[in-house]
Amino acid sequence: MLDDKKGKTPIIAAENLGKVFTSGVFVREQTVAVQDASFEMLPGTVLSLIGESGSGKTTIGKLMLKLIKPSSGKLFYHGQDITTIKSKDALRDYYRKVQGIFQDPFSSFNPLFRVDRVFDMVYDVFLPDVKNREEKTAEVLRSVNLNPKRTMHQFPHQLSGGQLQRLLIARSLLLDVDVLVADELISMLDASTRMGILNLLVDICRERGMSILFITHDLALGYYISDYTMIMHRGRLVEKGATGKVYQKPIHPYTKMLFNSVPDIGHKWDKNEAFVPEHVNREIAAFYRKNAGQGFEYVDPDHGVLLSVE
Ligand SMILES: Nc1ncnc2c1ncn2[C@@H]1O[C@H](COP(=O)(O)OP(=O)(O)O)[C@@H](O)[C@H]1O
Ligand SMILES: [Mg+2]
Repeated sequence: MLDDKKGKTPIIAAENLGKVFTSGVFVREQTVAVQDASFEMLPGTVLSLIGESGSGKTTIGKLMLKLIKPSSGKLFYHGQDITTIKSKDALRDYYRKVQGIFQDPFSSFNPLFRVDRVFDMVYDVFLPDVKNREEKTAEVLRSVNLNPKRTMHQFPHQLSGGQLQRLLIARSLLLDVDVLVADELISMLDASTRMGILNLLVDICRERGMSILFITHDLALGYYISDYTMIMHRGRLVEKGATGKVYQKPIHPYTKMLFNSVPDIGHKWDKNEAFVPEHVNREIAAFYRKNAGQGFEYVDPDHGVLLSVE
């Protein structure tokens, strides 16, 4: 298992997490968004979650952030089952320590609040005992390469997308978060800003022993940034493990297709693209049939694959 790898205990452990959405008023429609997802997040590491649009990535992110309730399975935080915690204090602690950064940084800010007000709210809610607020804020702003004097009195629309994402990272630093869920974080940034933010995230993750779930479409970015990789296909984690192994020795037919037959590793999924060719779907079905009854297996201590679905 991943958690034995470096003798570290996971910050987060998901056990057989599942999410079924029910929609429709007269005719109830059920969407199985996530099925049987188990994984661990270790301190000081980046875990990528890769899969095409609609495969269930954001749902996993939301389950981890406790924005939605799982339909099945369990979530552990530092070894403690937090699936059904109700205590307000415990919940607040969790929401403080496990934070998300989403694709569109503009939507994360109230357009009427200046940056200093945003930070004041963080202090009021989560850090009421901090006395030297201004000093503290300046310190975290500097550590994400923002000029405190120039940033503090700005409104969100006066800042660029990259600056807003840096602000979100600064906010996480202030809160001393354990886990960051970064969902398609950099897709709206241009290439130069993007590398700066990625490198900043990885440095912070290593220095602070934080754990990052990096949700992405982009195979090359995933490779660049992550220690561990999980491949998601139709709501299931079909392969996971050390990034080098998953990318270089893929076993599941879906992963193989991603890394072997995609000519350019920087390939991104187009939302309108019919992504999985019919013959791959047939291969996946045949693979599951051939391995019937085997379920998820580790071929290496740090490399596992879904051999069959029952
Ligand atoms: N609130 C919801 N209600 C109903 N279905 C949903 C809801 N959120 C997501 N889904 C469905 O769950 C599946 C997974 O969605 P999502 O997790 O957003 O995938 P991804 O982030 O990989 O694109 C999709 O079929 C999506 O339509
Ligand atoms: Mg998504």
